[in-house]
Amino acid sequence: MPRGKGAFVCKQCGYVSPGWMGRCPACGSWNTIVEQPFEALGPGRKAARAAETPIPLVLAEIEASDSIRIDTGLSEFDRVLGGGFVPGSVVLVGGEPGVGKSTLLLQTLLALENRGIPVLLVSGEESASQVRLRSLRLGGESSRLAVLTETQTELVAAALERLKPSLCVVDSVQTLWSREVGSVPGSVAQVREATAQLLRVAKDNGIVLVLVGHVTKDGELAGPRVLEHLVDAVISFEGERVQPFRILRAVKNRFGSTNEVGVFQMSECGLVPVPDPSGIFMDGGDLRSGSVVVPVLEGSRCLLAEVQALVAPTSLAVPQRVARGVDRNRLAMVVAVLCRRARVPLFKYDIFVNVAGGLALEDPAADLGVALAVAAAWKEGPGGQGVAAFGEVSLTGTIRYAAQGGKRIQELARRGFTRVFLPVRNAEEQEAAGGAGPGASVRGAGPGASVRVELEPVDYLEEAVKKVTTRRGDG
Ligand code: TYD
Ligand code: MG
Repeated sequence: MPRGKGAFVCKQCGYVSPGWMGRCPACGSWNTIVEQPFEALGPGRKAARAAETPIPLVLAEIEASDSIRIDTGLSEFDRVLGGGFVPGSVVLVGGEPGVGKSTLLLQTLLALENRGIPVLLVSGEESASQVRLRSLRLGGESSRLAVLTETQTELVAAALERLKPSLCVVDSVQTLWSREVGSVPGSVAQVREATAQLLRVAKDNGIVLVLVGHVTKDGELAGPRVLEHLVDAVISFEGERVQPFRILRAVKNRFGSTNEVGVFQMSECGLVPVPDPSGIFMDGGDLRSGSVVVPVLEGSRCLLAEVQALVAPTSLAVPQRVARGVDRNRLAMVVAVLCRRARVPLFKYDIFVNVAGGLALEDPAADLGVALAVAAAWKEGPGGQGVAAFGEVSLTGTIRYAAQGGKRIQELARRGFTRVFLPVRNAEEQEAAGGAGPGASVRGAGPGASVRVELEPVDYLEEAVKKVTTRRGDG
């Protein structure tokens, strides 16, 4: 360690370097290395040695208490947490400004307070009267919720120690500052110090600590990796401000599954859980206009997403590939496979792909839907309404098996879809399960399901493209 006033720490990943650098060698981000005083980096080795020698516990004798979770009163929030908050756990809730983090947590606090659970809101971002105003919209006119507008870490920790609430929300962790640390609030050192101090109090007293964290333009929590390993769960709140739907996703969860999502609708009086969200992200799926419905898996649920494409002759030397809701590189790959393996000449066209409703597709089984939407937009085919597709497109142009095909088909049937392009193996699996013969259709189960879904097994992308682009009269 160099001797001086401080070390240089990356704001993004926490990398420590002896001198200033323009680019962080660990995470590769530019202009993120700032000077931090040494005290901010934590206690030295001497201090650690001076502490008492710790005694380990015997595994079999440790009490495991998972039964006393605090449920939030919002079914979709509980789902993401894995059944409510675990006492003594520390949860980081991240999201872009305006997505609804403060609303979600204030609703949770009001519900808990209403049930007589002692809770505390530490608001560093909004004044007490702003919190009061918001609570009026959320039905908390006569709530006895405790609100503290304090931003000094030591004082917040002292308040926690004295009040010992069951749950405390800190909105946001970036507003906290400590005298011990000589940098501005929101810096890595401050955020880390605040988290460490509050975490200690929370763990010692069995308090659930919920930290709200801001997300930077690139979707990273400020000082993210510094906090991620300190906390028990990282929950990210996604959605576009102009869209009514919001998705809550567990990025990390020590007490539950990480792939469960929760869906909410932002209303006049707060966030309303959407317990059956499968159809909210689509409006029809007319293949003729370049739109295909894709059943995607989100945790244990299947959501139907609508992929829309527009293909137009380009006037630029390098054609544009614009994607919203689909990863750009993924789109580039699908377009390249379409060009080379399915003989769709897209080199001279601009391509725009959009996923309706603001959903971001991560499931690779969305590939086939994206490819068919682009192909259909390039050349109008027989198309028709109610066409869906799923399957991963490989670089060789084959359509690969997708997990949980049965669940996807079931969901399509429930929503009245009549035709689905799918990998051959999925179709075989479905037919075997349904006991039907080859080329069979599947009848949907569940409420309102009376439609038959025609299964269109496809081995190669070219085959599927042909089926959706052959114009009447072409052959
Ligand atoms: P907010 O919770 O302040 O977002 P964050 O804390 O993530 O920055 O709320 C964001 C938006 O939600 C805001 O633009 C107003 C809107 N909103 C509603 O539509 N209905 C409501 O009942 C409330 C409280 C907010
Ligand atoms: Mg807020």
